[in-house]
Amino acid sequence: HWAPKGIGVWRYASMLPLKKGITLGEGATPLVKSNLAEGLYVKFEGANPTGSFKDRGMALGVTVAKESGANKILVASTGNTAASAAAYAARAGMRCYVVLPRGNVARGKLMQAALHGAEIVMINGLFDKALEYVVNYGTKYAYPLNSFNPWRLEGQKTVAFEIFEELGCPDYVVVPVGNAGNISAIWKGFKELAELGLCNKLPRMVGVQAEGAAPLAEAWERGLEEPLFVDEPRTVATAIKIGRPINWPKAVRAVKESGGFFIKVQDGEILKAQRELAQRDGIGAEPAGAASVAGFLKAKLRGVVVAVVTGHALKDPDAVEISAKEVRNADELMELLEK
Ligand code: F0G
Repeated sequence: HWAPKGIGVWRYASMLPLKKGITLGEGATPLVKSNLAEGLYVKFEGANPTGSFKDRGMALGVTVAKESGANKILVASTGNTAASAAAYAARAGMRCYVVLPRGNVARGKLMQAALHGAEIVMINGLFDKALEYVVNYGTKYAYPLNSFNPWRLEGQKTVAFEIFEELGCPDYVVVPVGNAGNISAIWKGFKELAELGLCNKLPRMVGVQAEGAAPLAEAWERGLEEPLFVDEPRTVATAIKIGRPINWPKAVRAVKESGGFFIKVQDGEILKAQRELAQRDGIGAEPAGAASVAGFLKAKLRGVVVAVVTGHALKDPDAVEISAKEVRNADELMELLEK
């Protein structure tokens, strides 16, 4: 399971603090020119091995956990981190514990954690409480792989390198923000390209939050220095249903340094963006993944824009209403098709 040079995120070994490690072939995701707007590109992170960008980080994180001699890894999660940790832990021959908010994890993600053999622990409460348990009580028993773990972010920064390889440095990079790790990881990636003289105009980072779970976007709009934590976050995008993002200082720095901003979008706008992406671009995103596109549309950005679509539609089958027509015989089918 140890990759030779050049597979998965290890393709960028020269830019990483570790030179080789565990992989499932993560990264190298499609960058698709969107039909929704001029200049919009979608970086489809749903195409990663477990269906989200988390895989980039787990390749590094689980490698470090393994090398440090740990035998258990531990994460709190809204689902994708759990699915990814479970798969990479399986590959590394490690045990994996996932602490999840009961009733707030999309079905596909839960299924993945179970399939890959993780120990699933449910709490009554939301993600913020699950993370509090991990941070305050879990770390002396197991190696924690939430995004406060810097190795995770080292893996996640590789999406910037891929964008750069195909497009150069865009004008904007739009990212859904939950616990606020990914936006800072991507910004770190672009800054490292600039340090090498490869990117002379850095992109502005735009962080998108759901209206009912917008501690950073709300504070940004009001010009406050610190987030307005939300005790009872609400949104259909369960992946980013987070009221107290642990990485908020890093995310604020990324947005400020880059000259970007935070914006909030309504659930209706997220679901509309999900549908548009699916039906005009052929890209199946889970709601949180489509939040970046919703933010792009709301902010009416111009220039070359990359929206990072962070998770696959199959993660959350219950987010989509399914309607079907019924025919009783071939004549009725032909009648229907003729219309
Ligand atoms: N999009 C998706 C699909 C996610 O699963 C997450 C985070 C985010 C965006 C936000 O990324 O937290 O780095 O700002 N999911 C975490 C999880 C919280 O447990 O799977 P972030």
